[in-house]
Amino acid sequence: MLQMSSGRFVPQMAALILLGMGLVPVRAEDPKPVNHDDHVAAILKRHCLQCHGAGKQEAGLDMSSYVAIKKGGSGGPVVVAGRAGASRLFKVITAENPEERMPPDNDPLPKEQVAIIRAWIDSGLRQNAGSSAAPAPTTTGFVPSAGQGMTGPPPMPLGWPVIERTKTARPFPVLALATSPRAPLAAVASYECIDFIDPVTGKTIGSLPFPEGEPHVLRFSRSGAILLAAGGRPVQNGVAVLYDVKSGKRLATLGNETDAVMAADLSPDEQRVAIAGSGRTIKLFSTRDGKLLNTLVKHTDWITSAAFSPDGKLLATGDRIGNIHLWDANSGAVVLPLSEHKGAVRALSWRSDSKVLASCGEDGLVVWWDISKGWPETSKADAHPPKRPAGVYGKIANGVLDAAFGPQGELATCGRDHTVRLWANDGKELKAFSIQNPDSTIDSHVGTRILPTRVGIAWDGGTLMAGDSAGKLYSWPIGKTK
Ligand code: HEC
Repeated sequence: MLQMSSGRFVPQMAALILLGMGLVPVRAEDPKPVNHDDHVAAILKRHCLQCHGAGKQEAGLDMSSYVAIKKGGSGGPVVVAGRAGASRLFKVITAENPEERMPPDNDPLPKEQVAIIRAWIDSGLRQNAGSSAAPAPTTTGFVPSAGQGMTGPPPMPLGWPVIERTKTARPFPVLALATSPRAPLAAVASYECIDFIDPVTGKTIGSLPFPEGEPHVLRFSRSGAILLAAGGRPVQNGVAVLYDVKSGKRLATLGNETDAVMAADLSPDEQRVAIAGSGRTIKLFSTRDGKLLNTLVKHTDWITSAAFSPDGKLLATGDRIGNIHLWDANSGAVVLPLSEHKGAVRALSWRSDSKVLASCGEDGLVVWWDISKGWPETSKADAHPPKRPAGVYGKIANGVLDAAFGPQGELATCGRDHTVRLWANDGKELKAFSIQNPDSTIDSHVGTRILPTRVGIAWDGGTLMAGDSAGKLYSWPIGKTK
C-alpha cells in the first residue's frame, strides 16, 4: 500500500484512484489536494446522504455540507483533522462487523473511496482545493513531569465517566497488561478500551476509551501518574496515546501509522515515546509537541517489543526473528546486539536497577541479560514445556509468551504450557500456576486452546496477575515483598 498520510503523495495518488473508478473527472496530473468539494462530497452523496442529508439525519448527523460534517452528530464530532483512525466517520466505513458498518445492510465502500476519505481526513480536512489544511490536534497538553509525583498519594483513577463499550462477537484476548509501580492498580487491554482493575479483587475501577482500535501495549510511567497505550487496527492505523491516570484525560496522541503499533514505551523522563511494529523501524517522538525526533533502523523483521531501561539510558527492542538490539536512548546509537533467541522475541522487561534485561520468546527461552557485559547472566531453555499430547510427534510449540519483572527482581513469565511461572533472580523457579481447568481450556468460540497471554506483578510484589486469550484475568497472592 502506498503511504497515504504523507501530504506530498496524496494528490497524485487520489487522482489516479479517481481516474480508475471514473467517479470524478480528474486528470492524472490534477494537482488538487484531496478535498471535500472535489473528491469527498460525491462519495457521501452516493452512499450516505439518503440517511444523513437534508431530509433525514440519522444519529443527528447531516453530511450534506462541509460545515454540517464538521459539526458532527448527536454523538459528537465525526472527524478529527489529521487522524482518520480517531475519526468516527472513518471508523464506521471500515468496521469489520457489518452491524457496525456504514452504510448499513450494504456492501462496504470500495477500497479506493475509503482511501480518499482517509487521505482527506489525514491531510487536514480541506473544504476545497484552495483551502488550507486544518492543523492536526497539537499534543502540547502534555508536560513531562518525571521526578515529580513520586511522593504523596499514589495516583488512582477518580470519578471517570462511564464509557460505552464496543461489543465484540467473541471475547477479546488480553493483549496487554500493566501494573502501576506505585498503586494497587492494573491496566488491562480490551477492544477499543482500557480497563483499570484492582489486582487483588479483580474488580474494575474504571475504563478509558481507546477508539483507535486494539491496545497492544500498556505501560505506566514511573510515578504511576501516566499510562501509555499503543496499538491500532491492522493495516489501517497505529498510535500511542498518553492518559492521565487520575482524571482519565487524554494528554497526547503520538504517531499516525498505517499499521497497528505492536511495541512501545514511554521514556522514564517522560520526554519521549518509542513506537514500532511491522515497519521494522523504531520511531521516537517528543511528548511535548508530537514531533518525530529519530528513526532507528537495524531490525530486519517486525518489531515485537520495546522497553526503556528504568535509568533512562538504554532502549531495548526485540523482533520476530529473535534479534534484540540495545540503543542509546538519547542519541539512538546502536550499543549492542543481544543474540541468543532462535524464535520471535515475545517480551522484554527491565529489572528496576537497570542492570538486567529479561527476554523471552517462541523458542522457549527466558534470558536474564547482564547489560554491562552484553551476555546472558542466566538463561532457561524450555522454561514452559507443554505436555506432549498422546499420539503427537515432532516439535511441539513451547513458546514463552510474556515476561515481567516485579519490584524485587522476581520475574513472572507465561507460556504455551498454559502455565504462569515465577522465577527468582538466579533463574530458580519459585512458583507455578496453571490456568488450565476443564471449562477454560477450550475456547468455545474458536475451538482453540486458551493460552495465558500476559503477566504482571502488582506494585507491592504481593499479587501475580495474568490474562488469557479468552479475555479472562487471574490473580494469585505470592507473598508481599515490600
Ligand atoms: C440506510 C440508512 C443509512 C445510510 C445509507 C448511512 N447511515 Fe450512517 N447511520 C444510520 C443510522 C440508523 C445510524 C444510527 C445508528 C446507531 O445509532 O446505532 C447511523 C449512524 C452513523 C454515524 C454515527 C455513529 C456514532 O455512533 O456516532 C456515522 C458517523 C455514520 N452513520 C456515518 C455514515 C456514513 C459515512 C455513511 C455513508 C458511507 C452512512 N452513515 C450511511 C443510517 C444510515
